[in-house]
Order: sequence, then structure tokens, then C-alpha cells
Amino acid sequence: MVLSLSSHNVIQYLQDAGLCSSEDGPSDKSELPGSSQNNFNLLVTLADNRQLLIKQERNANNNDGAPHELFQEWLFHQLLQQFPVLGNTSAIAPLVVHFDEENSILVRSYLNEYQELATLYHNNEIFPQEIASAIGTTLAGLHRATYNRREYRDFMATAPQGEFRYGFYNPAQGVGSIGPEIFGTVTTDALKFYVLYQQYESLESAIADLAYSWNPCCLTHNDLKLNNILVHSRWEQLDNCLIRLIDWEACSWGDPAFDLGTLLASYLGIWLKSLVVDPTIELEESLHLALTPLEILQPSIIALIRAYINAFPMILEYRSDFISRVIQFAGLALIHQIQEMITCWKHFNNVELCMLQVAKSLLVVPEQAVLTIFGMSESEILNTVAKIHKFPQPVKEQQLLQIYYEKTRLRGC
Ligand SMILES: Nc1ncnc2c1ncn2[C@@H]1O[C@H](COP(=O)(O)OP(=O)(O)O)[C@@H](O)[C@H]1O
Ligand SMILES: [Mg+2]
Repeated sequence: MVLSLSSHNVIQYLQDAGLCSSEDGPSDKSELPGSSQNNFNLLVTLADNRQLLIKQERNANNNDGAPHELFQEWLFHQLLQQFPVLGNTSAIAPLVVHFDEENSILVRSYLNEYQELATLYHNNEIFPQEIASAIGTTLAGLHRATYNRREYRDFMATAPQGEFRYGFYNPAQGVGSIGPEIFGTVTTDALKFYVLYQQYESLESAIADLAYSWNPCCLTHNDLKLNNILVHSRWEQLDNCLIRLIDWEACSWGDPAFDLGTLLASYLGIWLKSLVVDPTIELEESLHLALTPLEILQPSIIALIRAYINAFPMILEYRSDFISRVIQFAGLALIHQIQEMITCWKHFNNVELCMLQVAKSLLVVPEQAVLTIFGMSESEILNTVAKIHKFPQPVKEQQLLQIYYEKTRLRGC
């Protein structure tokens, strides 16, 4: 990295890059709140009221095999340019206006008429089904259009200059190996999480199975949580442009169930973070005492999955266990949420403990968890879509005794 971007040099940088001119007059710049730890984000408002979001990746030279984030978003943008048929959907239309690989800087048009979906849900406590349906349809459209298409896969295999890509990153990872250094880095409360995680053999083995059966077959967002989805401020009056999916920094060739699972976990997070927990209350009771009960979220969760299957019914032919895998990936995403709370926010308490129990159920007994999460069976979820499409009956896999499983820490495919 040659240049370290700051509010002092950003305007000069934009002028040098030809993104604004000195005649544009005084501009307003502010650091964007709620940004991730890896990136430095600045919002610049130009004199003509155009707004640009400028991002710089601070530690782009990581060597852990995970893709360079801003490069991935740039690659996705290039893909949409090269294959315009993909970018025709307004919800994923291109936003990137500039990429500087040498300095790891990416500039996006900022959509000031939109707000984060997480904020809409949080501030208004409403969960409109049409928003969830729009997300399901958009996501299915992307997965369906790229499914098993070699040209897109090859494109997404492009590596940053001077580097090689040996395979696609497998995001189905459990908690990595834990050494004595853990005592110095996490709080005493948080140690409970690692102790429990290691005690649950069934959990580790379910994650290992999931990682093993991870099947990269289409373009996936890979970080589809509610704050990476924007919703138009006038969504009630619009039929189109309701939502925008942003933050394509983790996108890659991946497993479609991973995206839906991550999103489902984000919805479940609203419920779980509102739990009333106390050592004197049983978990079951806590789950029912939530300030945002699961029943309030269920119509949106069901609308999401139904819209997805409606727009991409073939997924059930390709993977008859698709819904179960979505549930399992949701469990895994909850575990990742807990890890993030521990490492970034140094936080772990009874709420996270409950989250771990729920995550375990989703991963270990997904067929039963479907009933709890959706409030209905898989066939009931699918009955509205089944009237239009004829689905094959799920074939029960032979119960073979598994005597060996790949460790979850495997990367690549
Ligand atoms: N093009 C955009 N239009 C409007 N808001 C945006 C846009 N891009 C990002 N944001 C806002 O900035 C936040 C952080 O941007 P994001 O790309 O998700 O970065 P991070 O990697 O920090 O999560 C988003 O959650 C969203 O609220
Ligand atoms: Mg984000």
C-alpha cells in the first residue's frame, strides 16, 4: 500500500483519479459509522450532491488464503460489465466507479435514498413480507443465472495481479484450533464458549460434514446479512428497486445454501438478541419470552424461502436436501456471529450461550429444526410452490457409519 487515505487527502485523490474536478467546489466528507474493522470508509458529498463511498482495505496483504476483499468486489463489478445480462437486475446493478489495486482503494456510488434493512427492522419493528420476497427472488435469480456456468466460474477464478488462485475459498469453517494463547485474548466468560464448543462432538462433526459437502456451483455473495441489504426509503410505493444487495467483498464461486443460511441467521439474530435470559429461566422459556418473538419474523422467513424456491425451483432437483442445508448453514452463521462478538466486541453472555444451543440444534438435527424455525414442515413450506412445479421426493440418504471426516479447517475445494 502506497497511499494511506484520510479525510485530508481524499479530495486530492478523487481529483487525481478523475472522479471530481477542482471546479466541483467545496465537498463534505465524513467517516462512515458502523464500518468493519478491516476497511477505512469515507463518505464524500460533492458540490453537485453526488455522493461517493471510498473504501480502503487496511490489511490487504493477508496470506491466509481468504480472498482480497476489495479485489473481489471489483471482480464482481467486472463480471457485471462483461456479462450485462447479470447486472440487469436493479438489486445487484453495478455501483463501483473506480478501483485502485495498488492502494487497495475502491469507490462506489452512494445511494442516499436507501437505508440498511437491519435499521428499518430495528427502528420500526416491522417485517414486511414483500421485502423478504424481493430478496429471495433476487438471490435466486443470481444463483440460477450462474448455476454451473463455466464462463462465470472461470471469470471468478481470476486472481489479483501476481497471485495464483488454487481453488475457491470454502467458508464452511468451524472454530479453528485453540491454543493456550486463547487465555490472553478472550474474557473468562467467553472461554465458556470454546469449552462448550469442544465438548459438543456432534457439533464439530456436523460442521465437518457441511464443509465436506460444500458444493461450489454458482456465484454467491457470501456475506448476506441484513446490513448488507439496503431498502429504498419509499419501498411501500415501489414495485421495483425495493432493495439493493451491497458489499460484494466476499463474493465468490460458492454454495447457494450458504447465502440463504447466512441470511436466515441474520433474521434469527433479531429474535435471539432479544431474549430475556436469566440463570433461573430454562432455555425453552427464554426463547418464548423474547421481546421480538420468532412468530413475528416467521412470515418474512417463509416468504424469503418461498420466493427463492419459486424463482429457482430446479435447486430442489439438484439438491433434494436443500432446505436442511440452509438450516445447517444458518447454524454455522450463528456460530460465526458469536465468534465475532467475542473477538471484535469482547462480549459473551447468556444470550450468546442460548445462541450456541440454537446453532447446535440447527446443525445437528436440521430436519427437526425446520419445524421450530419456520413453524411448519418442509412440505408445508413447499406446498404453495409445489402447485406450480413438481418436485421430486427427498431421498433419504443411506445411514452409513461415518468413521472418518475431513477437518473443518480445510480451505479450498
Ligand atoms: N452504495 C451504498 N449506498 C448506500 N449506503 C451504502 C453503500 N455502500 C455502503 N453503504 C453503507 O455503508 C455500510 C458499510 O459499507 P459496506 O460496504 O457494507 O462495508 P463494510 O465492509 O464495512 O461492511 C453499509 O452497511 C451501508 O449502510
Ligand atoms: Mg457490510
